[in-house]
Amino acid sequence: MVKKILEMEVPLVYVAGGVAVVVLAVGAGGYSDYAVRADFAKAKQDFASSTMQFESTITDMSTKLADAETENTTLHERLHDEVDRNNEYGQKVESLVSTVAMLDKLSKTDRELLQKYSNVYFLSENFVPASLTNIDSQYTLNKNVTLEIHAQIKTQLERLLHNATADNAPLLVLSAYRSFGTQANLKTSYKITYGAGTANSFSADQGYSEHQLGSTVDFTTPQGGESLAAFDKSSGFTWLQQHAHEYGFILSYPKGNKYFTYEPWHWRYVGVELATKLHADGKYFYDLDQREINTYLVKIFD
Ligand code: DAL
Ligand code: ZN
Repeated sequence: MVKKILEMEVPLVYVAGGVAVVVLAVGAGGYSDYAVRADFAKAKQDFASSTMQFESTITDMSTKLADAETENTTLHERLHDEVDRNNEYGQKVESLVSTVAMLDKLSKTDRELLQKYSNVYFLSENFVPASLTNIDSQYTLNKNVTLEIHAQIKTQLERLLHNATADNAPLLVLSAYRSFGTQANLKTSYKITYGAGTANSFSADQGYSEHQLGSTVDFTTPQGGESLAAFDKSSGFTWLQQHAHEYGFILSYPKGNKYFTYEPWHWRYVGVELATKLHADGKYFYDLDQREINTYLVKIFD
């Protein structure tokens, strides 16, 4: 056997070498596994620590983001409030400007223009319209008598007269502005002619006549002239009933009114807005409360 082994001397050396290689290899292998595990453990630890750091960074950032969002919302709300406040302020300024403009307009408008007279209120003997002007004589019945009207009503009145004639419903003005004194003289003469009772039924005392306002006219027709008895049968009267409101005029004394006898010829300027409302509602000026009427004063010349 030994001999056999000796005979196998060289191969034995090889065997020993192989064993050594195997041992070394196993030893080396053991080392490498350990190192990998250690590396892995370290990497794992590093990873865990990085993850923790990362998570903490995320938490941090989330908190900052939430804070930023809260701040953003607060700023947004403040901005919104500021815009609201600004708009409110702008509206207040606007309304103030329009109130000032309205008051300015009102201060230049005779309050008397929309008051009820006709035995209801008294117009002072000192009242004279702010500004009077002549009615163009082509529109008056008596060419030798100058008739006056409130200056701010002249254009509407003359448009009305022009358009009525253009529509084959010719109208002329028989009477317009009458001063306190003129009305007094007229009433006196009526009383003498007809007696006080009858005169009172169709003629206002001085201070109660709408004619003193400068905004009221008595219409007639070229055919009727000074006689007004058949005025309500004329095409002119029918035209007035349909169109006078478009020019701001209303019939003061319809049939059955409680102030005077029916006066189809007597029309008063109250402004397009009020006249149109009365026309649409089928009402008369004296049907309304004075408080409601007053709201139209500012727009009377619009
Ligand atoms: N004829 C009307 C009522 C006036 O005198 O004013
Ligand atoms: Zn009249």
